[in-house]
Amino acid sequence: MNAAANILHKQVQAKPDSVLGLATGGTMLRLYAEFIALCRQKSTTLSKITTFNLDEYVGLASVHPHSYHSYMQEHLFSKTDIDINTTYLPRGDAPDPHQEAASYETLIKNAGGIDIQLLGIGKNGHIGFNEPSSSLASRTRVKTLSVGTIEANRQYFPGDCEFPKMAITMGVGTIMNSRECILVATGADKAEAIAKMVEGPVTASCPASILQFHQNVTVLIDEQASSALQMRAYYQQVHPRGYNND
Ligand code: F6R
Repeated sequence: MNAAANILHKQVQAKPDSVLGLATGGTMLRLYAEFIALCRQKSTTLSKITTFNLDEYVGLASVHPHSYHSYMQEHLFSKTDIDINTTYLPRGDAPDPHQEAASYETLIKNAGGIDIQLLGIGKNGHIGFNEPSSSLASRTRVKTLSVGTIEANRQYFPGDCEFPKMAITMGVGTIMNSRECILVATGADKAEAIAKMVEGPVTASCPASILQFHQNVTVLIDEQASSALQMRAYYQQVHPRGYNND
């Protein structure tokens, strides 16, 4: 996690007006905490960056406590000097979500594209909310969430709060257009998805597997998430100390 925070931090140091693609979810919490700590320690300003999040739930207003807008506000934006006017997430409560998705795609293009895209991975191999069977060329659009994704994320919707059934998500093709991707995963329940992504065939059944075709991807995983990789010994031979970006 420290490695991912380091990569982001170096990116902003080298290019203060970087365009960062951000993700939400449990995996990102430690990463954001470490990134914030690094920025404070090194007095790095984030005032010139632009950010685009991967996704937002359809039907949730930005101010909804379980929206990804609120997540970002709580875990990153409010704790840094990021200019809130250059942070973007799809609007979940847009009157026409399809139009909102198309406009979001244009916004990313007009910003000059994404320098570094942060990614988590679903147990089913999704990136963003591109569920298995998503077109590998897809652009930002409305997607129906799978039952597995709803179950995995229901923990963040306590009480009687109804869980959204759809999301606006950057497409697989949108993600592939970013100049660099950092995919982070921890824990045994991600092991199978990681093995399929890294060593399986490139297939819409595991949307993350398209990253095999990306020119600049770093996969940062812990021991447990690496446990189903067939060529683990080889990766350890190549990176005996793990990822070291210092
Ligand atoms: C979140 C997102 C998702 C998550 C993935 C893993 O913006 O796009 O793809 O990265 O579902 O979520 P966690 O980290 O909660 O396991």
